[in-house]
Amino acid sequence: METVIVLDFGGQYNQLIARRVRECNVYCEVKPYTTTLEEMKAVNPKGIIFTGGPNSVYEGTSPHYDSKILELGIPVLGICYGSQLMAYMLGGKVKSAPVSEYGHTEVMIDKHDAIFTGVSDKLVCWMSHTDYIETVPEGFSVTAHTKNCPAAAMSCPDRKLFATQFHPEVVHTQEGIRMLQNFVYKVCGCSGDWKMDSFAETAIQSLREKIDKGKVLCALSGGVDSSVAAVMLSKAIGKQLTCVFVDHGLLRKNEGDEVEAVFGPNGPYELNFIRVNAQQRYYDKLKGVVEPEEKRKIIGKEFIQVFEEEAKKIGAVDFLVQGTIYPDVIESGLGQSAVIKSHHNVGGLPEVVDFKEIIEPLRMLFKDEVRRVGLELGIPEYLVYRQPFPGPGLGIRIIGEITEEKVRIVQEADAIYREEIAKAGLDSELGQYFAALTNMRSVGVMGDFRTYDYAVALRAVNTSDFMTAEAAQLPWEVLFKVTNRIVNEVKGVNRVVYDCTGKPPGTIEFE
Ligand code: XMP
Repeated sequence: METVIVLDFGGQYNQLIARRVRECNVYCEVKPYTTTLEEMKAVNPKGIIFTGGPNSVYEGTSPHYDSKILELGIPVLGICYGSQLMAYMLGGKVKSAPVSEYGHTEVMIDKHDAIFTGVSDKLVCWMSHTDYIETVPEGFSVTAHTKNCPAAAMSCPDRKLFATQFHPEVVHTQEGIRMLQNFVYKVCGCSGDWKMDSFAETAIQSLREKIDKGKVLCALSGGVDSSVAAVMLSKAIGKQLTCVFVDHGLLRKNEGDEVEAVFGPNGPYELNFIRVNAQQRYYDKLKGVVEPEEKRKIIGKEFIQVFEEEAKKIGAVDFLVQGTIYPDVIESGLGQSAVIKSHHNVGGLPEVVDFKEIIEPLRMLFKDEVRRVGLELGIPEYLVYRQPFPGPGLGIRIIGEITEEKVRIVQEADAIYREEIAKAGLDSELGQYFAALTNMRSVGVMGDFRTYDYAVALRAVNTSDFMTAEAAQLPWEVLFKVTNRIVNEVKGVNRVVYDCTGKPPGTIEFE
């Protein structure tokens, strides 16, 4: 398979570079700068991209790389720190720039080499640097400059070495995608025939070979990642796979049945499906508990116990499936095996299951790629495009004590909210939205009667990374309609409020 390697020197856009290359239909992996030259040769990449990074090349502690990498005839593109590193490795001069450049910067192209083929003479690019290349190495020419940066790009086409001080991967760089396309197609000679469907096919084939006649166990939550992983395995090994789905009674309305309809015996997939109806068990354990962390811990612990009981019934298995995806791998430190997400649904599982090896079929995919594979494998859209749902479920959307009655209220209110958001066509625009049950009761009037009922809180946020978020400005008509429907249709609710808090200071979930 044609592969381009992104060699990671600690820059903030490294995942993005890999994404962009994959968007060119070229398979791309991020590897740490500690990857040895031998390991790199073993991958036999069509090209390598040195990323940006926060350091200065001339500081002793900065990440460097064996300069022999530049002599292998493999095309290399250096970006930002990567460009300075290339210059430094080959005897050019890098120093602290008299004027640092940050943000949108006008770049003049001096020479339309392979990278700049078809690119305008003048463009706005994204810069973020305090060092610059003062003198390019011997054999290199300057191919672009800015007002303050004499070598905003350089190249030595004979040796297939190219470098840009700016970031072609970010959207703020005009025609940046074109430059990356030029690198992978014109310089590296990639054919661009890598596609998600070939990924799925190849991955299923290799899972089949690896697992052979082995037994596989998967904890299925109904979320996107575990669903896609389960379907891939079902296609690879059919009934050798057993999926355990724990219904903890804190799922959204009808969710348990929806998961069962897809993965259960009447669904389209060949696998063993075990649904554990543990609702009552959870409600009993959670009785009287009000403290959020305690609730989370009880829900998590109970999950492990339920799963352990099921695993014992199944007996020893050969493989345990984890739905780890690429951002988890990158964030948890490249080159090491992925730390299992602190998601309560999977964290802790390996200790209670008797198995030989973990398999992570989605380890190399970004979230939207997981979704694309899901669609290709024929998983229904409503499952593939599901918004994030926390492991502890509605348990952390009910403030205070959890009761079956409160679960019913929040399920009904949330279903109405989701239905109206979808009707208004807002579902794909919002990062996350849900109804929560406040622990507040207040006085109202319905017909001729006084009521003393709960208040439901509606939440909707826009976010790109879930680390920060802002409250979405939902159209008033939508809020009005949802409110009316909830107070009329959901018994036990007489008031609806909208949460306008961002994160920080609020979190997305209520507990
Ligand atoms: P917060 O509430 O921390 O949520 O702003 C950020 C994102 O994480 C989700 N979330 C969880 N996901 N297990 C999960 O799998 C959990 O325990 C959990 N808690 C919060 C939340 O839905 C949001 O998308």
